[in-house]
Amino acid sequence: MTRILVTGGAGYVGSVSAAALLDAGHDVSVLDDLTTGHAAAVPDGARLHHGSYADGDAVRRLLETDAIEAILHCAARSLVGESVRDPAKYYRDNVAGGVALLEAARETGVGRLVFSSTAAVYGVPDETPIPEDAPLRPINPYGETKRTFESALVWYGRAYGLRSVSLRYFNVAGATPAHGEDHDPETHLIPNVLAAAQGRWVLTVFGDDYPTADGTCIRDYIHVADLADAHLAALKATASDDPRTAEPLVCNLGNGGGFSVRQVLDAARRVTGGEIPHTIGARRAGDPPVLVASAERARTVLGWRPRRPTIDEMVASAWAWRRGNPDGYTAS
Ligand code: UFG
Repeated sequence: MTRILVTGGAGYVGSVSAAALLDAGHDVSVLDDLTTGHAAAVPDGARLHHGSYADGDAVRRLLETDAIEAILHCAARSLVGESVRDPAKYYRDNVAGGVALLEAARETGVGRLVFSSTAAVYGVPDETPIPEDAPLRPINPYGETKRTFESALVWYGRAYGLRSVSLRYFNVAGATPAHGEDHDPETHLIPNVLAAAQGRWVLTVFGDDYPTADGTCIRDYIHVADLADAHLAALKATASDDPRTAEPLVCNLGNGGGFSVRQVLDAARRVTGGEIPHTIGARRAGDPPVLVASAERARTVLGWRPRRPTIDEMVASAWAWRRGNPDGYTAS
């Protein structure tokens, strides 16, 4: 049993990971300012602290009172478009806030951290699938600020012995029976496809003239429950005697295969049994044609295997959650 603080534990990835940590027998504290998360998403059995990870004094007190041993840092600003319009928010929260969290951890002797990073650190890749040692050339402040925090982890590791794993998520999708995706605004493909299936709006496919087989962008979708499994494996790797984090470890989290936007629409038709009202629109700025992870390192180093790799499983689980929670967490 490890006492773990999950920042952003009221959010999509954080709540599913907090639930998986509880199931595995860990003691879980959640820190969330509830600006994008939902109190109702915090799993039963976790202690919710309402506040910001950027508030060093409050975080220090929390780390001490809850006797925290490790941190899962999921909280962040994470909208690519917003980051381009308002980079200050991203530097303030993802970088300055992140460093305040690292400082609180250093001052209270918490030496283990797992970080939610992103494929956005790569920008437009030269090769596919993308290995972790590909050049980091983010094309937006979101990716840039995540990269900056990753580098802080490297230097804190070397100087202060902080053990860390940065997990570079590709396209997280799907739901568990208890937890799903509820963002406002929602920008992600699968929830927007499912909202279209419910007749709530008409989906716009952002471009069908990309250099891919069907002309639409290809992404590496990964089930949020598989992502949670990877967090458990990463947490284990941060133990003080574990050679895997003698140097900070970085792992992509993807399936190593991709699906096009049209393939996602096909999956949604199979799952929902209905049509998906959509139109073809212009390309969205900053969308690379293909983003697929090399998932080898997570397999070999963390011993992690995605257990729900099909797009139909991801879409079906998201559909089940949406039908059970038509207004997201607001109704619960
Ligand atoms: N798309 C549409 N219509 C929509 C929404 C999305 O056609 O209404 C397309 C996008 O153009 C893209 C694909 O569906 O080709 C996936 O888009 P998402 O917005 O679901 O996801 P992204 O690939 O843009 O972003 C994800 C994460 C980001 C992360 C990025 C890494 O959500 O946090 O991967 O590149 F930065």
